[in-house]
Amino acid sequence: SGNLTFTMIKPGAVSNEYIGPILSKITEAGFRIAAMKMIKLRTAQAEVFYGIHRDRPFFKSLVEFMTSGPIVVAVLEKENAVEAYRALIGNTNPEEAKSGTIRKLFAESVSKNAVHGSDSDENALNEAMFFFSRSEIFTKDGEV
Ligand code: CMP
Repeated sequence: SGNLTFTMIKPGAVSNEYIGPILSKITEAGFRIAAMKMIKLRTAQAEVFYGIHRDRPFFKSLVEFMTSGPIVVAVLEKENAVEAYRALIGNTNPEEAKSGTIRKLFAESVSKNAVHGSDSDENALNEAMFFFSRSEIFTKDGEV
């Protein structure tokens, strides 16, 4: 499996000043930061990014939350990155996340769950390329 995954630090975690603590957990777990920036999503961007959830009852509130303030988007590099990062962040619902996971430590609720993590290698690449060009992603070997 691949060496890259994509993450977002969501508006609630940014406004609570958890960017630093979350990045510390990420680097302490052995991930390299291959790309990173702080941005504010526009509604149309959030609707496309979360398009797979378009028919879910929480879609509108998800888009409203994700556009409510700045976020940090990043590409992370580690062996077996997608699975390793999902283990680090824990269950989507922080009430079900294991102790020590990023969501257990920093999430407020299932909708304000501190971070996003890609669920497959294919989605990791698609999500990374949604926010970054190839020349903005700096892997250990230099290329994506
Ligand atoms: P994320 O990994 O960013 O992908 C989709 C998001 O939808 C998810 O994290 C949650 O924050 C959100 N989500 C999933 N299930 C629910 C739910 N039942 N109610 C509200 N938000 C949800």
